[in-house]
Amino acid sequence: MLKPAAAVSRLRTESAFSVLARATELEAGGRSIINLGIGQPDFQTPAHIVEAGIKALRDGHHGYTPANGIAPLRQAVAADLHKRLGVEVDPGRVVIVPGGKVTMFFAVLMFGEPGAEILYPDPGFPIYRSLIDYSGAKAVPVPLTEAQAFGLTAEAVLSRITPATRLIILNSPANPTGGVTPKREIDRLVAGLEAHPRVAVLSDEIYGQMLYDGRAHTSLLHYPSIAGRVILLDGWSKTYAMTGWRLGYGVWPAELVEGATRLAVNSHSCVNAAAQHAGIAALIGPQDAVREMVAAFEARRHVVVEELNAVPGFRCLTPGGAFYAFPNIAETGLSARELETALLERAGVATIAGTSFGDHGEGFLRISYANSVDNIREAAARIRACLTAN
Ligand SMILES: Cc1ncc(COP(=O)(O)O)c(C=O)c1O
Repeated sequence: MLKPAAAVSRLRTESAFSVLARATELEAGGRSIINLGIGQPDFQTPAHIVEAGIKALRDGHHGYTPANGIAPLRQAVAADLHKRLGVEVDPGRVVIVPGGKVTMFFAVLMFGEPGAEILYPDPGFPIYRSLIDYSGAKAVPVPLTEAQAFGLTAEAVLSRITPATRLIILNSPANPTGGVTPKREIDRLVAGLEAHPRVAVLSDEIYGQMLYDGRAHTSLLHYPSIAGRVILLDGWSKTYAMTGWRLGYGVWPAELVEGATRLAVNSHSCVNAAAQHAGIAALIGPQDAVREMVAAFEARRHVVVEELNAVPGFRCLTPGGAFYAFPNIAETGLSARELETALLERAGVATIAGTSFGDHGEGFLRISYANSVDNIREAAARIRACLTAN
């Protein structure tokens, strides 16, 4: 009998991947499945970005690169942050990693250990909790509520800080709810954090360009009073439809850059060179494709909310960002997991139970609307038929 370290048994998973596997299995057996489970844009990576990746390979970029990423890419990230958010970032603080998730992994490894406490949003991206448990730190959920449109409140975070708190994870716009934390709450939170100078913040802003109704993104990088302890997580996966390229970045406080770079050297060495060249093209090239994608998501958002509110037992808020709707399904009388299973097995619609994102997700379902309007309408019709037949 092998004896893997106990920490490994504390790792959880992302059920979007298991639902995807089951959906694929059902499809292989001839069933028609509409996948509203997986969180990835249903668009192709824009052609000029693909071309830059191909060109990099043709030009002979086949070897290792610096562990923190090639300099022109880190410079392009800094320039993009300046252009979009108006913040000055030294490219030396940018660490390029294979996907948004890796910055999360590094940040939690850097602050998580037995005796430490880490705050995270619940419902939230499931990997936060998984990594905190893995690290041995105590995972402290900050509940997000439908009554607050799934935005974080400063009070909910600040009231949970103890002398053991090392790191707070924030995510806006949010997975799985599409909730956006209002600027006034971020202002209050930052003001409150001034009393806790040893607490670091991981701000997951991977959906920062997917905001609707003319909302502007509030980045944690905007706040000078906490600038020395904010880790920004962002990447190319969602904004440029590049989930499979595995490309992301962190902006680290100067004193943590070396630690993040060593974690990179110790794990993946560096990100593949062609993806990094594609990443430059994405940031410095035309942004029309981003605008078109966001406009498409915005249009679908209205359709999905209208369709879901017409399902008996469902009640759905209009999400402010990302590409997820998070309907309240309590009145169906089914648990989130029962409904996820019934919809996949009987209606051929893949969704994700709210409980996959934390205990506070009970009574909700995550619906990704990164799918065509026709499919969204057809899925809603199937859901209605399934629930009416119950
Ligand atoms: C909130 C959030 N952060 C990070 C990630 C990870 O992104 P990547 O695929 O680039 O690792 C995701 C992906 O779903 C996400 O939803």
